[in-house]
Amino acid sequence: MKITVVGAGAVGATCADNIVRKELAHEVVLLDIKEGLSEGKAQDMMQTAALLGFDTRITGSTNDYAKTANSDVVVITSGLPRKPGMTREELIGTNAGIVKGVVENILKHSPNAILLIISNPMDTMTYLALTSSKLPKNRIIGMGGALDSARFRYQLSQHLGCSPADLNAIVIGGHGDTTMIPLISKATWNSIPVTNFLSEEQQKQIVNDTMVGGATLTKLIGTSAWYAPGAAGAALVEAIVRDEKKLFTCCVYVDGEYGQKDICMGVPVVIGKNGWEKIVEVELDEKEKAAFAKSADAVRSMNDVLKTL
Ligand code: 2OP
Repeated sequence: MKITVVGAGAVGATCADNIVRKELAHEVVLLDIKEGLSEGKAQDMMQTAALLGFDTRITGSTNDYAKTANSDVVVITSGLPRKPGMTREELIGTNAGIVKGVVENILKHSPNAILLIISNPMDTMTYLALTSSKLPKNRIIGMGGALDSARFRYQLSQHLGCSPADLNAIVIGGHGDTTMIPLISKATWNSIPVTNFLSEEQQKQIVNDTMVGGATLTKLIGTSAWYAPGAAGAALVEAIVRDEKKLFTCCVYVDGEYGQKDICMGVPVVIGKNGWEKIVEVELDEKEKAAFAKSADAVRSMNDVLKTL
């Protein structure tokens, strides 16, 4: 197994760090356009090997895609992160060109790779990666819902005073502050509906705090978050390389499921060695269906911006 992470910024480096700690591959390449950045961070990580006891070898590469050749999985984090007050959608102009170029370069050297997209606006970048590469749809996965669902479980755990690991809860829809849909009606605490324990007001608060989870951190830190985005990326890589068949919410090409077509959006999918292997349809109530359709409209109008660039 060989894994490449493109972009050695905070998200890319954290994702690579998680990947090497979990020994998900023999070889990991961290690539960045900034001279020396990926080499430096890769060496820093290698110097933790003696302390943490992993055998994965990680190397850096300043924009030399030949070094990424024959990767099985490629995580793309390239592009600008958001600044306080900025939406993910505002990044489209800059990040679309960057992501398109990265996908082209990667596929020249790793034509069989599964691509995991983290760059924002993530739903549109996933759609762009798919339409520009014409790869089979199962090999393009956007990370957003895996992260948003982890944030949802965190918010629920705070109110319930329980372990996030005991919670089952998913966020579907777009990966935007107003487009994501935390499905609180379906969330359970070890199979007991969480709604049994939470007032209407608490439920609203949890849903709202989940939706602005990324923006809240951007305001506090001054830039986009990285620990949870990096860990979510690595969890998906793990499900692929270990062929786990785990159910995650990811942004994938929807072709009729959930009443939508020709769009990449967050839906529950089984992740394994072939990328995303199956979309799982959850029965939504009328309100959730309407929210999904509205979210799709917003993602679609963002995809339309691609035509103007
Ligand atoms: C976030 O929500 C990076 O979009 C990512 O933090």
